[in-house]
Amino acid sequence: MLKGKNIILGITGGIAAYKSVTLLRLLVKAGAQVQVVITPAGKEFITPVTLSALSGRPVVSEFFTANTGEWHSHVDLGLWADAMVIAPATASTIGKMANGIADNMLVTTYLSAKAPVFVAPAMDLDMMAHPSTVANIERLRSYGNIIIEPAEGELASHLVGKGRMEEPEEIARVLDRYFDTVDSLAGKKILITAGPTYEKIDPVRFIGNYSTGKMGYALAEEAAARGADVTVVSGPVAIKAVTPAIKVIDVESAVEMRDACVQLFDDVDVAILCAAVADYAPAEFVDHKIKREEGDPPVIHLKKNPDIAATLGERKRPGQTLVGFALETDNEMDNAIGKLRRKNLDMIVLNSLRDAGAGFGTDTNKVTIIDAAGTVTPVPLMDKHRVAAAIIDHIAAE
Ligand code: CTP
Repeated sequence: MLKGKNIILGITGGIAAYKSVTLLRLLVKAGAQVQVVITPAGKEFITPVTLSALSGRPVVSEFFTANTGEWHSHVDLGLWADAMVIAPATASTIGKMANGIADNMLVTTYLSAKAPVFVAPAMDLDMMAHPSTVANIERLRSYGNIIIEPAEGELASHLVGKGRMEEPEEIARVLDRYFDTVDSLAGKKILITAGPTYEKIDPVRFIGNYSTGKMGYALAEEAAARGADVTVVSGPVAIKAVTPAIKVIDVESAVEMRDACVQLFDDVDVAILCAAVADYAPAEFVDHKIKREEGDPPVIHLKKNPDIAATLGERKRPGQTLVGFALETDNEMDNAIGKLRRKNLDMIVLNSLRDAGAGFGTDTNKVTIIDAAGTVTPVPLMDKHRVAAAIIDHIAAE
């Protein structure tokens, strides 16, 4: 998919810059035209001679060529590109990109780029975890940039943690997949449920669960990036959608979530039910704060909540795709297939709580995708954004 594509490869001053040479070779080998733009600090790590020899183009670094006065137009470059990939992206460059500090050719080119921008951060684990970096990366996401998350592993400092630039082969794959799937969901309407539900006991207490909504929101971002018209029906969560085009309907209880979904469902092409819906709610809402009293503790009677997935499964018409999730602790495969059939789903994404790094609250997930025909696709432990991409790939291929 990279054949004939114009790609700007931005290189900044990090140890991982040596890996950019491999990335450049892979992109050129795949048939892309690559224009390298390097920051002054980047040149301390890797020489422009190597990069221009491999790309077949002079490397751009300064606004002007010193001896001829020739101006390098970041505007033209920004228009020429089908994609821009910044690998490695240091904390400093990410900060400049997030805040529009255009003091070098790379950041001015970034600000002029009309094409999608991919950012592969690389830095030490403490820099990566600093609130400033975290906030800047979130800001880049909100601009629609695609973050190629760094991997965990040994860093140049010999410390072990998150911050290692993703391998060049994987970055090339991400780009390739992007061109393969961009607009694959253009014009499709997608409904996603996310987060927990809260079931009120009294004005100050509720029954809830540990779901943070991260997986559902990651799915929403990924689907929106591929051109889908996305609505999230969200239980109470602390996170926000960063892509402005994503519509979010906030609800609290399972009944409210069901009502919002039923209202939207007839009009959507795909519904992904990622919310951790409480199966039971207090049978009665006590309208005052329940007080601590002498004697036996109060008993909360429960009633069944509606099964949103099953409700939509009954309403589903040909051409609609219904995707569920199953979080299991034992007998995982049988339980997931049982839910797929019972709720009339087309696909179910199985999470096993027995897998380290999977489930609630983590930034990673490990899932297995099972479709109605019985095809089983394992997705290895990865960042939730990447797991979301794998799930959306699957849905787009349906
Ligand atoms: N689900 C739903 N409404 C419910 C319960 C679950 O829409 N009241 C959806 C979830 O969003 C998920 C799928 O159904 O997509 C399976 O959820 P899960 O909680 O694993 O299944 P349950 O049917 O509740 O089964 P159990 O709790 O017994 O495992």
